[in-house]
Amino acid sequence: MSLFNLPPIWMAPMAGEASSAALVAAVSAGGGFGQLGAAYLAPARIVEIAADIRARTDQPFGINLFCPQPWLRDDTALDAYLARLAAWHTELGLPAPTRPERYEEDFDAQLEAAIAARPAVISFVMGDPGVARVAALKAQGFKVIGTATQVGEGRVLQASGVDAVVAQGYEAGGHRGGFLGRAEGALIGTMALVPQLVDALDIPVLAAGGIADARGVAAAQALGASGVTVGTAFLLVDECPLSPAYRAALLAATDADSTLTQAFSGRFARGVANRVTRELEGVALPAFPQPNAASRPLRQAAAKAGQADFISLWAGQALPLNRAPGTAAQLVAALSKGWRA
Ligand SMILES: Cc1cc2nc3c(=O)[nH]c(=O)nc-3n(C[C@H](O)[C@H](O)[C@H](O)COP(=O)(O)O)c2cc1C
Repeated sequence: MSLFNLPPIWMAPMAGEASSAALVAAVSAGGGFGQLGAAYLAPARIVEIAADIRARTDQPFGINLFCPQPWLRDDTALDAYLARLAAWHTELGLPAPTRPERYEEDFDAQLEAAIAARPAVISFVMGDPGVARVAALKAQGFKVIGTATQVGEGRVLQASGVDAVVAQGYEAGGHRGGFLGRAEGALIGTMALVPQLVDALDIPVLAAGGIADARGVAAAQALGASGVTVGTAFLLVDECPLSPAYRAALLAATDADSTLTQAFSGRFARGVANRVTRELEGVALPAFPQPNAASRPLRQAAAKAGQADFISLWAGQALPLNRAPGTAAQLVAALSKGWRA
């Protein structure tokens, strides 16, 4: 199935250090489809970065948001989490951690900013944007994409009217994007998930998770995907403004260092294991986004101090496959070799 005249090689939206205009623009200008992970950005920043992307390229790009999800504030659990962070704060010379003043950006304001930025695609993860919102976005000319980690989620998203679904397999770096059942429940690998979603849905499916070179792209196409969404491999391209400690940790990690952890955010995410993931393994945590906001000062200070043990080193299982991708355009070209027109 065609992807609305967009190229088949997409850069996954990556909130955090990789939310960069230069990177998104380089992917789109390089023949792929760049996406901005805007989940942690204030609405005004979304508009600014989108303008910056547009100043760099006239090619289309996408913007991605986390769907709002209900969560119960639990200050007792949060205080226990802060007590665990305290020793690491001391190691980095930071003041003791405190309860965050804010936990997340206002979703409706972020969405308004995304609309004002006029990307070609608005994509969502960790939820179902719902029939009314999808219809309103489509009426304004946007292509709307949802993220599924199991077939049931794909069906819900299709019923809401999305134009395409990203099938996010277990291999994928970053947060699990699912929303039905327990986050650690649906851990279906890309190889198994993509063809099941392709069979179940009438809309295009993009494959995500563990795709890092032309072989993965060819495999995804063979499974019926209409395109691929690649995250981790783009973290190492020249234009990605990754902190040196994060980059060095990615370059040193092996396949066996990949772990699924709640330790940084309260929600399962895949990254390279470090002291935080090891020492908080099995520890009960407050729900996302409380730990995510509470650990931010530690993560940011660690990135500045070059201390990878306290950074959330999000990356997928295929990380070691492509450690020297070159520029974004070179990576797009290398991945494109696996796609048959
Ligand atoms: C650093 C990082 C940040 C991510 N942030 C987001 C995000 O903001 N929104 C989203 O939909 N997916 C996010 N993801 C997941 C990607 O969309 C995608 O599913 C994943 O990168 C694909 O697997 P791969 O990393 O093996 O290529 C992130 C992934 C990484 C590695």
